[in-house]
Amino acid sequence: MNEKKTVLITGASSGLGEAFSHLLAAQFQQIILVARDESKLQVLALELRRLYAVDVLCWPHDLTIADDLQRLIANIQQHKIDLFINNAGEGIYGEFHQIPAAQYAHLIELNITALTALNHAVIPQLIANQGMGVINIASLAALQPLPFMAVYAASKSYVLHLSAALAEEYRHSGITIMALCPGFIQTPFIDKAAINPRGFPLANPVTVAAQGWNAFLRHKSVYITGYRNRLLALLMRLSPRRLATRVAFYLMRQRH
Ligand SMILES: NC(=O)c1ccc[n+]([C@@H]2O[C@H](COP(=O)([O-])OP(=O)(O)OC[C@H]3O[C@@H](n4cnc5c(N)ncnc54)[C@H](OP(=O)(O)O)[C@@H]3O)[C@@H](O)[C@H]2O)c1
Repeated sequence: MNEKKTVLITGASSGLGEAFSHLLAAQFQQIILVARDESKLQVLALELRRLYAVDVLCWPHDLTIADDLQRLIANIQQHKIDLFINNAGEGIYGEFHQIPAAQYAHLIELNITALTALNHAVIPQLIANQGMGVINIASLAALQPLPFMAVYAASKSYVLHLSAALAEEYRHSGITIMALCPGFIQTPFIDKAAINPRGFPLANPVTVAAQGWNAFLRHKSVYITGYRNRLLALLMRLSPRRLATRVAFYLMRQRH
């Protein structure tokens, strides 16, 4: 790459976002890290500057606060972004009615509203500047209804369908838009979502980031990481929805 290439990653301060930050800091000239906790972003920035010849900017924003999201969008519009990774997201596990409605509203603000607004803000400039594109982090959970994580799974179905539709809409515009669908990953997300993943294989975030990046470079519009997850996805697709949902109910029950 001759000119300065910039990648922006939301939810960069931990888990999959942190793994993407390391992977891409080695390949881009500038990296913009977004999350709420500025001190965590600064610690990561120091590490990235030490390990790679990269210019790092820390942009602390809460994507669920409308004004803050607008400030981020204004900042984006003053920068030339080449790759956008919409990774910030949260999950909630539990019986639907036991979770306060406000927690679901927060999840929807982050996983759906902010992600949509950020795609809307960045796609025109990616096209105008001949950038690379967008990776939206969905989930294996996007592929079917998931009892006890019903709202999370539905939010990730939205991400999957939005991304696949936009990938088609912008197919001839020179950019790639991809939904990345990992299964469970060993990140703080698991504890924050209050889910016990016992019995499910947990992927390494570094591996998931590398697989996702390779798929993006191959211009995939949807990519499921891991052959076991792809097999599971195939079985889900072939099964009647009611049966697949019933099986998911038994697998997901009592995972506190
Ligand atoms: N872990 C899994 O099993 C799994 C599986 C499939 C898909 N995913 C998806 O992968 C993505 C990354 O998750 P992860 O597993 O890496 O989780 P994580 O370790 O909890 O990371 C979430 C990141 O998002 C940031 N974030 C949370 N709320 C935010 C807000 N309101 N505004 C701005 N940033 C916010 C967090 O930083 P701050 O708290 O500092 O804001 C953190 O950097 C998510 O979209 C998740 O749904 C995860």
